[in-house]
Amino acid sequence: MAQDRGLVVIKGASRGIGRALARRFEEAGHPVLAVARTPAGGEGAVAADLARRDGVAAVVAAVRARGMPVEVLINNAGMQAALDLTAPEAEREADTVAVEIALNLAAPILLARALLPLMRQPGATIVNVTSLVSRHPKPSAPVYSAGKAGLASFTASLRHQLAPLGIRVMEAVPPLVDTAMTEGRGRGKIPPEAMAEAIFEGVAKGRPLVAPGLARRVLLLDRLLPGLVAGILARS
Ligand SMILES: NC(=O)c1ccc[n+]([C@@H]2O[C@H](COP(=O)([O-])OP(=O)(O)OC[C@H]3O[C@@H](n4cnc5c(N)ncnc54)[C@H](OP(=O)(O)O)[C@@H]3O)[C@@H](O)[C@H]2O)c1
Repeated sequence: MAQDRGLVVIKGASRGIGRALARRFEEAGHPVLAVARTPAGGEGAVAADLARRDGVAAVVAAVRARGMPVEVLINNAGMQAALDLTAPEAEREADTVAVEIALNLAAPILLARALLPLMRQPGATIVNVTSLVSRHPKPSAPVYSAGKAGLASFTASLRHQLAPLGIRVMEAVPPLVDTAMTEGRGRGKIPPEAMAEAIFEGVAKGRPLVAPGLARRVLLLDRLLPGLVAGILARS
């Protein structure tokens, strides 16, 4: 059974949501290619900096070396940097801006394109992990918010382009998840394993959108009462 399964490629699998995803798919018998700059180790780990073009190429080479079709590609790796454009040091942060856009937005686009010929057609799934900031930008993290909004938009275009090939494209919108990214802030965080389970189930059921907990409630309110959440956030 496991031999029939294609490869699950998970970006950002050394900790947090990505690591929980790698464990969940492995538990279900899938071969996993776990990508990070400092991978957690194990047979399926690949070291690659996805903010760099050669990092994307390294992932493609590793997939080719495994010699099996990609069944699931999860664009999960991400970073969030604070940026105050009015601060004098903002100019010095140009490199961080470029890296953030490369990792959060360009890498999912480049990897989807590069891995397309190596994907199971029909039957593969691409998962792009966005954020609620794609709909409600966070003032202190404007580049992160813009990158996630771009990724959400790209996800919708890609879904239409790949439908004729039988490749599903899913957006995963996490609520606040208890990981290194959210250390020391926020309340009511869900464990990374709960987010991983929601994505795993969404892939199995072929859902176009996965948004557990608070994320689902915010997206629902946005549909039913447009402007309400934005108004609450503006006053907070
Ligand atoms: N946590 C939340 O509440 C939350 C909410 C909304 C959306 N998200 C999104 O969910 C995704 C996962 O977040 P998380 O909270 O699990 O983050 P995390 O704990 O900080 O983990 C990020 C992962 O990305 C990898 N990574 C970072 N920079 C990389 C690079 N240049 N090249 C390759 N891999 C890189 C990290 O490994 P290395 O450092 O070893 O490279 C790590 O495995 C992100 O896209 C994030 O924006 C998270």
